[in-house]
Amino acid sequence: MKALILSGGYGTRLRPLTYSQQKQLIPVANKPVLFYAIEDVIEAGIHEIGIIVGPNKEQVIETVKSVDWDANIEFIYQGEPKGLAHAILVARDYLGNDDFVMYLGDNILREGIVRHKEHFEKSDYDASILLCEVPNPQQFGVAELSEDGKTIKRLIEKPKHPPSNLALVGIYFFRPIIHEAVRHIKPSWRNELEITDAIQWLIDNGYKVGWTKVTGWWKDTGKPEDLLEANRLVLDEIEREIKVETRAKIIGRVKIEEGAKIDENTIIKGPAVIGRNAVIRNAYIGPYTSVGNNVVIEDTEVEDSIIMDGSVIIGAGRIIESIIGKEVRIVRGDGHPLGRRLIVGDKSQLTL
Ligand code: TTP
Repeated sequence: MKALILSGGYGTRLRPLTYSQQKQLIPVANKPVLFYAIEDVIEAGIHEIGIIVGPNKEQVIETVKSVDWDANIEFIYQGEPKGLAHAILVARDYLGNDDFVMYLGDNILREGIVRHKEHFEKSDYDASILLCEVPNPQQFGVAELSEDGKTIKRLIEKPKHPPSNLALVGIYFFRPIIHEAVRHIKPSWRNELEITDAIQWLIDNGYKVGWTKVTGWWKDTGKPEDLLEANRLVLDEIEREIKVETRAKIIGRVKIEEGAKIDENTIIKGPAVIGRNAVIRNAYIGPYTSVGNNVVIEDTEVEDSIIMDGSVIIGAGRIIESIIGKEVRIVRGDGHPLGRRLIVGDKSQLTL
């Protein structure tokens, strides 16, 4: 079996972060979201991985290549992101006649895919999808099951009257028949080749589509609030690991990487991670905070936030529920006239 991991798309809902960074590279607990997918696939014993790349392809290739993975990884350029089924079309030659798992590179699944893969391999299904119970199915793609509950009868995008509370997770197992399906479907109203249409084509043409239920948490990190929630969920499971000498007060499960300098006037309350060579002085770092590499935080309280590599935050009061990109400067002004001096890019959000 091969894997096709999708790391293209424009990520418009995560602007301005995605103006400079492909969304699957945004760190959750100091690790690019995409790496969670690659790790899951390798854990399931799949060592042939194709990664779909799009608008910022060089960044994705460079970041993935910076790690020595136990897999052969090929990059497949999609060009314009024209939909999830279009990604399969583009990867046709790479996938050949192998079964494959398609994994959306901005999804994180706590339990991994081992059990789901085994279920698919033992079955005679032509495709098998992952479903997760959600409290608000109106906001997802939702599955209607067959009478015996074993197979999928219909997939409905954001239904007003959901036939179930089972939402489609961004992980799908396919046999090669899916290539015929993606060749038959037409672009949707949003001009994308939809994977749900391709799966529906399988069902309508007599092929069997099974499913497995996700039991742990699942997060699609496509929106800012989802990124923060994914960061909380991952941090909730870290272990205490402090790789530096420090006289700071460190409470609970906190991970501190090598080279970080944290002074004795600082309090860090976990779960939290502090990246390599970060400098933290006279600060409070509260629960659910990920501080990237080479970040400087002084005279500031930060809680429930993601601070990316190289940012500097000095005398900034209290920062909560925030996502700060790379090399951002937030500093207290010390001269007259008083006031906030802002150089803020397009589509930024500031809550003052
Ligand atoms: P979406 O979340 O729909 O990604 P998007 O980039 O279109 O985001 P937005 O709606 O905010 O603009 O897609 C799911 C995943 O698939 C995500 O990881 C991006 C990836 N993708 C591709 O690789 N190619 C594509 O053509 C599309 C549409 C998405």
